[in-house]
Amino acid sequence: MTIEEKEELNKLVRSVEDFPEKGVIFRDITTALKDKKGLEIIIKDFTDRYKNKGIDYVVGADARGFIFGAAIAYNIGAGFVPARKPGKLPAEVESVEYSLEYGKNSIEIHKDAFEKNSKILIVDDLLATGGTAEAMVKLVEKLGAKVYELAFMIELVDLKARDLLKGYKVYTQLKY
Ligand code: PRP
Ligand code: ADE
Repeated sequence: MTIEEKEELNKLVRSVEDFPEKGVIFRDITTALKDKKGLEIIIKDFTDRYKNKGIDYVVGADARGFIFGAAIAYNIGAGFVPARKPGKLPAEVESVEYSLEYGKNSIEIHKDAFEKNSKILIVDDLLATGGTAEAMVKLVEKLGAKVYELAFMIELVDLKARDLLKGYKVYTQLKY
């Protein structure tokens, strides 16, 4: 994306203090998503980066990762696989627990989601501590697939998620 587009997108993200708990500055993407130019900038940038790379599946994290993940998958001609919060997927699952900036959770993918050695793009709206992203990497690899790259709209740089994801390619559109 151009510098102008980045500035425009930056202005469209709303920052809400003390949500969901005191001390957290919540980066609200809904204000960027509802803006048609904002949505176009985000999706077009990811599409340009990942088209013609031979990606088999885009894995999106529950719930905000679904918004970008399915749109990118459609645009680059890949399949979409949801990584869901516990108890939501109906068939046999692989599961990994992780810590959040505010809390703990686990994430699951259907065991038959990918063929062995599939090329995977992991997508989420925001990279904070990297706990969710690390859990997604573990899940993908447990199922015998390969992580091509991880893509996020927003990176909270101070939380140093890149240290946790050393050895993996990480792409983020906006940094805070
Ligand atoms: C948020 C966000 C990322 C994750 C990032 O999701 O959408 O998935 O936190 O944090 P981390 O890098 O510290 O793991 P959340 O679990 O709040 O769920 P939601 O998408 O359902 O709102
Ligand atoms: N997920 C984890 N930390 C977040 C933050 N500060 N803003 C929005 N989503 C988040």
